[in-house]
Amino acid sequence: MAKNFYITTPIYYPSAKPHMGHAYSSIIADFFARFKRIDGFNVNFLTGTDEHGLKIQRAAEEAGVETLKFCDQISQTFRDLSKTLNLTNTDFIRTTEKRHKESVQYLWKELEKNDEIYLSKYSGWYSVSDEAFYNDNEIETVDGRKQAISSKSNVEWVNEESYFFRLSKWEKPLLKYYEDNPNFILPMSKKKEVISFVKNGLKDLSVSRKSFSWGVKVPDNNDHVIYVWLDALTNYLSALNYPNSSDKLYKNFWPADIHLIGKDILRFHAVYWPAFLMASKIPLPKKIYGHGWILSGDEKMSKSKGNILDPLEIIKKYGLDPLRYYLIKEVSFGNDGNISQERLEDCLNSDLANNFGNLCQRVTIFTKKNCDGKIPKNIKFKENDLKILDNFNANLKILRDKIDNQDLNFYISFIVKSMFETNKYFNDQEPWNKKDDLTRLNTIVYTTLEIIRKLSFLLYPIIPSTALKVLNIFDIKENEIKLSTLTNHLFLKGNLDINIIDILFKKVEK
Ligand code: MSP
Repeated sequence: MAKNFYITTPIYYPSAKPHMGHAYSSIIADFFARFKRIDGFNVNFLTGTDEHGLKIQRAAEEAGVETLKFCDQISQTFRDLSKTLNLTNTDFIRTTEKRHKESVQYLWKELEKNDEIYLSKYSGWYSVSDEAFYNDNEIETVDGRKQAISSKSNVEWVNEESYFFRLSKWEKPLLKYYEDNPNFILPMSKKKEVISFVKNGLKDLSVSRKSFSWGVKVPDNNDHVIYVWLDALTNYLSALNYPNSSDKLYKNFWPADIHLIGKDILRFHAVYWPAFLMASKIPLPKKIYGHGWILSGDEKMSKSKGNILDPLEIIKKYGLDPLRYYLIKEVSFGNDGNISQERLEDCLNSDLANNFGNLCQRVTIFTKKNCDGKIPKNIKFKENDLKILDNFNANLKILRDKIDNQDLNFYISFIVKSMFETNKYFNDQEPWNKKDDLTRLNTIVYTTLEIIRKLSFLLYPIIPSTALKVLNIFDIKENEIKLSTLTNHLFLKGNLDINIIDILFKKVEK
């Protein structure tokens, strides 16, 4: 029976069109989804848009477009981006959908039923840009302007009737949960920040707003809309048809295996979300991973800073797979990463074109000329061949463990090292000097082709179109990509006619 795996991206605000930061979260999630799928898991991969709240209402007002129409338009650009990025998401949720609103209202009623919500009055700071409430000690004044210290976004004073969630009550259970589940919040550096935030004391959380109407109505009190974060976080459940606990999706996929998010929204996911879930007696997700930021000129990319990098422009210039490869390889996962076109070009030229692309081209041209264009059949492995092939056997379990611990750096280093070693193997074995020993010549060619097959399997989660293009010459279809076959060195079909792999990646002139 297939094992299940549920991964989510944050749902994006459709306040402006997507930028590279959004593309990054989605590409990384797609990497994990594809990896798990080829490792035999039944994967549910969710992304979508977070469409309620004052931030969106104001953005629509500024654009002079009716709010839902505004959301329709920008949400569509995120949906289109999912296609452009070649994401394998199984669903795309919008918080303005009926299925979602019903789930949110149900969850609200559960919280009310459990006496976790009460009506009172909120007086304090609010950042519309972050959709977050801040305490006095989280605010600073710069040039006479009040802003949140963490995000530098403007805050405004709010004084209105509001429902509150008894967050304070969950302080100890949360700390205990973090202790009992050491990998619940990752990376470790971020986990420490969350724990110290909770240890500093949690105040009850305002979970409704009365002064605007763009949101999910509080059941039985339509003067209030539900706080956009309580609304948004519930998407992870509503997409599984919560509260229908007998629903297949819910049964198979909850609790989620990983919520992949940016570090900026860790507090909502690692404090509020588990508290809401505990309070409504719903199991908690297994892991919250807060990745770093993509920086542009040393700063987080954002509309207000005007330093946005448009993923579509980069894809148009270099192609999608080089961008995916670059982001996965060069932004050390869990840390911030400054992205530069120069480094992207280096990756494209050295790893993809010179290394992998060149290997594929050389070996297939050699096969055409010397093996009648067929995958050699009569082969006899020697120690040298088995040594390089067995490297995959020896590392398969390690690769799986590393990915389960989100160690992308190890995974990609293994691939790059294997590419170099394979190029070296082909050179050192000199098949062109073995024309009087055809079994040897055939074995070297077969071994190299088989490694290209194995490497393409491992590259598939990173550069899926390129990997499929290569595998196509071996007559291997997407649904035949299975990690477990990495240990089989006789996977390729002997005697199969194969084409020359032409230029996989075009080098950029520098
Ligand atoms: N709508 C909320 C999330 C709700 S999830 C229940 C939100 N949306 S957002 O559009 O502002 O940002 C979503 C995510 O995009 C961030 O958490 C992060 O994952 C990603 N990024 C946005 N800017 C980024 C960078 N500059 N770098 C990397 N990722 C960043 O927050």
